[in-house]
Amino acid sequence: MPDDVVEVLFTEDQIRTRVQDLAHRISEDYKDRRLVLVSILRGSVFFATDLARQIELPLSMDFLSISSYGEGSEGVVRITKDLEENIAGKDVLVIEDIIDTGFTLKYLLRTLGGRNPKSLEVCTLLDRRARRIIDLELKYVGFEIPDKFVIGYGLDYRQRYRNLPYIGVVKP
Ligand code: PRP
Repeated sequence: MPDDVVEVLFTEDQIRTRVQDLAHRISEDYKDRRLVLVSILRGSVFFATDLARQIELPLSMDFLSISSYGEGSEGVVRITKDLEENIAGKDVLVIEDIIDTGFTLKYLLRTLGGRNPKSLEVCTLLDRRARRIIDLELKYVGFEIPDKFVIGYGLDYRQRYRNLPYIGVVKP
């Protein structure tokens, strides 16, 4: 374990089991629909690809990259890489690694909602409710977590640790 990591919150096995549960629910819920997974770069890529492999339905995947303007400008978000696919009339599931304040998600739902998808829901691996400012409905949540700085399985600390197979807590 890297020196900065003080605690393992979820092991690789725990994550795998939870991802399977979510994929199972999604497979049931989206039967006979036109599912598009929209993975928000960069953090959700590990989760999105593992989840997609476990969903037993035809689906498409697309990627969206956004950038926020940092502290003090919460909610000011812009798209830096847009979707390739036209989502009008399709069942869109936004895949996130973590939801904190909800500002990013609010922007995403407003923007994607404006493109007339048939449905628009959210699947997040982690929900750090303690930091929530804007409350939005999250249809699928992997784990609720305490207000700690987490890394691994896509989550970074200064762009490092995304490739750890578990989710850990780093020193404050
Ligand atoms: C994280 C996460 C969400 C956002 C959530 O992305 O993937 O997009 O922050 O925060 P909010 O609820 O307070 O808006 P981050 O900016 O860390 O980018 P990354 O996925 O490229 O690491």
